[in-house]
This record gives sequence, C-alpha cells and structure tokens, in this order.
Amino acid sequence: MSVARKYDIASRFYDAAEGFIEHRFFSKFRKRLFEMIPPNGRILEVGIGTGKNLSFYPKGVELVGVDFSAGMLKRCQEKVKELGLKNVQLQQMDVERLSFPDEHFDAVVSTFVFCTVPDPIRGLKEVRRVLKNGGRAYFLEHMRSEKWYLNIVLGIMHVCTKTLLGTSMLRKTRDNIEKAGFTILHEEHLLSDVVRLIVAERR
Ligand SMILES: C[S@@+](CC[C@H](N)C(=O)[O-])C[C@H]1O[C@@H](n2cnc3c(N)ncnc32)[C@H](O)[C@@H]1O
Repeated sequence: MSVARKYDIASRFYDAAEGFIEHRFFSKFRKRLFEMIPPNGRILEVGIGTGKNLSFYPKGVELVGVDFSAGMLKRCQEKVKELGLKNVQLQQMDVERLSFPDEHFDAVVSTFVFCTVPDPIRGLKEVRRVLKNGGRAYFLEHMRSEKWYLNIVLGIMHVCTKTLLGTSMLRKTRDNIEKAGFTILHEEHLLSDVVRLIVAERR
C-alpha cells in the first residue's frame, strides 16, 4: 500500500492518536518554531497533514499547504473552515514533484514530514527549488540520534512506524537537508537530539 494511502486511512484517527504527545511535547515545539517565522509573505507548508500548525501562523501570511494524502487534506480543510482562515490554499501534491515555479515562496515550513517522504533528498531539493534565494526553510523533524542507545529504542519503534505509516525513525534528516544544498543557520535539540528545530537557508 502506498504511503499516501496509509495516511488516508490514518487521517480518521490521526489527531486523536497523537493527542497526548501533541499536548505534552509537540505543541510547545511548534510554538518555538513559529516564533521564528516571518510575519508576512508567501509561505509553503509541505506535508501539512491535518493542519496542526494552522493556528500558529501570523495573520499577515499567505499560506499554501500541500500534502499527498487526500484524507489528511480533508481534515485540514475542515480546520481551515473552523478557524475561519481566508488566506490559506490547500493542494494535493507530492513534495517530490512540486508544481510551483522556481523561487516562488518566501519561506517553507515542514513539521514531522521528512521522516516519511519516500525520497527525502529529492523532496528537500524541491523545497529548495521553490524557495526564493535567501529564503529560509523551517524544519521540526525527528531523526536518528547520535547516541547509540537511543537508536536502539528508535530502531524498535521504526519496525512499527515503517509498517503502519511508512515513517522512518532512523533518517539522517539533518544530513539530508545539507545534501539537498541548504545551508543550516540554526539548530536546536528539543527532545534529546531526536527532535530538532532546524532553520536552513537557500543561498
Ligand atoms: C507525520 S505527518 C505530519 C503532519 C503535519 N505536518 C504535522 O506536523 O502534524 C506527515 C505528513 O506528511 C505527508 N507526506 C509524507 N510524504 C509526503 C510527500 N512525498 N508529499 C506530500 N506529503 C507527504 C503525509 O501525508 C502526512 O500528512
């Protein structure tokens, strides 16, 4: 089954299943990321999912959200309506094949996405392509640790997450961001070195 299809199915219970971890950790991490976001401009969010970041965006931003799962986008659209947001446009699209022109966005946001994108370097290269020169991409991602004992725990989790959602717990996402041609400007370790906030620039 494709990863997009797995997320279509998961979309029905995704928010409920993540409720505890979202409340305890992720919402704080999202708040931290959004303290850094520019107050206006055209922003692309890739893998927008059910729209957990929607309420964090500054009012002046024109947001385009993409995801390859129709199910996740449907939930997101419901949230856009509930929140009464006017400046949000959603499109079903694969981050590995973005249909936007080069240098189209002022900034890009990605939260917990590149653990799942089937070809992460290809997706990250696309993110870089659509970002204006000097524009920044803001990543909140979990990844392989530099501590061997944490990687044992992550390896056990990986067996389940890979099967259920196509999600890897062992990706070297920091390295992948650099391999895609970005310059890393800022890195914060939010949950040991497993969950990281990374700000990277297109130069
Ligand atoms: C773990 S969820 C995170 C959702 C959301 N960003 C959040 O912070 O809650 C990963 C999301 O990325 C999407 N995704 C994964 N690979 C993708 C790809 N190649 N293109 C577009 N969306 C993708 C999935 O459909 C899913 O909605």
